[in-house]
Amino acid sequence: MDSPTPHSNHLISRRDALIASAATAAAVSSHVPATAAPAAAPTAATAVPRARLSLTVNGKAHSLELDTRTTLLDVLREHLHLTGTKKGCDHGQCGACTVIADGRRINACLTLAVMHDGGQVTTIEGLGTPQNMHPLQAAFVKHDGYQCGYCTPGQICSAVAVLDEVKRGVPSHVSADLNARPILSAEELRERMSGNICRCGAYSNIVDAITEVAGSRA
Ligand code: FES
Ligand code: FES
Repeated sequence: MDSPTPHSNHLISRRDALIASAATAAAVSSHVPATAAPAAAPTAATAVPRARLSLTVNGKAHSLELDTRTTLLDVLREHLHLTGTKKGCDHGQCGACTVIADGRRINACLTLAVMHDGGQVTTIEGLGTPQNMHPLQAAFVKHDGYQCGYCTPGQICSAVAVLDEVKRGVPSHVSADLNARPILSAEELRERMSGNICRCGAYSNIVDAITEVAGSRA
């Protein structure tokens, strides 16, 4: 048999405290007037702002009506169900969401879809298929340029745009001569791909894959 503690008459058990607090909450809620005003109807100031836009994604035209605050990344993944583009950080830090918009690589998490009204977007699904891979997709497979694969769509979209930037003579922060046509050295490649983080650390194989394709295009 339990012997009572010296203060058993004054102490409240944890169970009693929970019962008491639940009873208090119920009492408070029961005093909410039945005639409480319903939630105010949305006004012009609180209504969700919406807009209609057209977007061509991987060559297919889409007409969408959206909350204007929707990011391009959420449009691709949630509205168009193109889940190849990944959401890593949602803050522009990791590059997992990289897509090519009107010829330039961008972080889809950092841009609103309405800013691309009438634009063209290419995602990993638009580069190739398992049966007919883009040369960079094939090179990533050949060189084992991934482990978990979460960063890979962003890495490949970025790499496709990098090769195009080099071809167009776009300098990077490590280009010694801003007017000379850049050569895709290891330093240039690492700088240009520095916005794409790989948590698995597959960097050396990623560099091998891109270098092979770049070499075959030189
Ligand atoms: S999800 Fe866009 S940069 Fe990380
Ligand atoms: S392969 Fe896993 S994050 Fe890059």
